[in-house]
Amino acid sequence: KDPSSLPLRPPVVTIMGHVDHGKTTLLDYLRKSSIVDQEHGGITQHIGAFSVKMSTGKQITFLDTPGHAAFLTMRQRGADVTDMVILVVAADDSVKPQTLEALKHARSSKVPIIVAINKVDKESANVNRVKSDLAAHGVEIEDYGGDVQVVCVSGKTGQGMDDLEENILLLAEMLDIRAEPDGMAEGWVLESSIKPIGRVATVLVKRGTLRAGDYIVAGTVHTKIRSLRNEAGVEVDEAPPGTAVEILGWKDPPDAGDMILQAPNEDKAKIATRYRQELKERTEAIQQQT
Ligand code: GTP
Ligand code: NA
Ligand code: MG
Repeated sequence: KDPSSLPLRPPVVTIMGHVDHGKTTLLDYLRKSSIVDQEHGGITQHIGAFSVKMSTGKQITFLDTPGHAAFLTMRQRGADVTDMVILVVAADDSVKPQTLEALKHARSSKVPIIVAINKVDKESANVNRVKSDLAAHGVEIEDYGGDVQVVCVSGKTGQGMDDLEENILLLAEMLDIRAEPDGMAEGWVLESSIKPIGRVATVLVKRGTLRAGDYIVAGTVHTKIRSLRNEAGVEVDEAPPGTAVEILGWKDPPDAGDMILQAPNEDKAKIATRYRQELKERTEAIQQQT
């Protein structure tokens, strides 16, 4: 099929940056809820992933990545599955180790970045210092003749947030992001947790469309999807390409980072799971020998 004839899908945007530079606060502003306050200790424990309709009516899927050093693999995963990275740099703190690490991930995944200089409401904010520090680390920002967009924002006051949204949608338009909505679905597990409602996996759909009743294999486990929920906990009928949803119905939990493949029926799902388990056991046996 000619790729340009496929329907557009929402861009997947990963928010990265140093710890406490305001990633979750920015996302929180964008989805107009208050998850920051509910976070234990103010540190994001998981990649939060959700799809939202913006004021323009366009949909964007956001992935939040914790800045804390312990979450390296999740940040790596975030850079791998994304169409663009929003690199958040606090205007009062400038470039820090996790800023550089995020840059490294974005570069190795070859995804374009937009810089969001955050906390510009603070008296100690120094936007020019951030710009020159970024340039010193090889980021070709527009102020210095490059093509990396820089937006000054405040997740606290909302300043510049319309610009940020506009920049994201503009870049998405340029990237012309399309995907096949039919056929066997594929995706990734972004996070997996136990909630009062049962085992829940947050899944990003890459291609195809997931619906309740579908059989899926994730890593070495499989399930029949009981239901899908959006970020607000509301049940949805389907998850098309480029959207993130919570999937319920797991007996065994999948792992964050697992790839998801839809199977046409339960037998095929079981065969795929058994095959993957054997492969995993053999790989582990070989690793023990060496
Ligand atoms: P980790 O997930 O732990 O890496 O942090 P984060 O990057 O998600 O930062 P978070 O949103 O948790 O914000 C850290 C602190 O900075 C909180 O106390 C926020 O209230 C504060 N903060 C975030 N954005 C702004 C802003 O634009 N202005 C001001 N003044 N404070 C902000
Ligand atoms: Na924080
Ligand atoms: Mg956070």
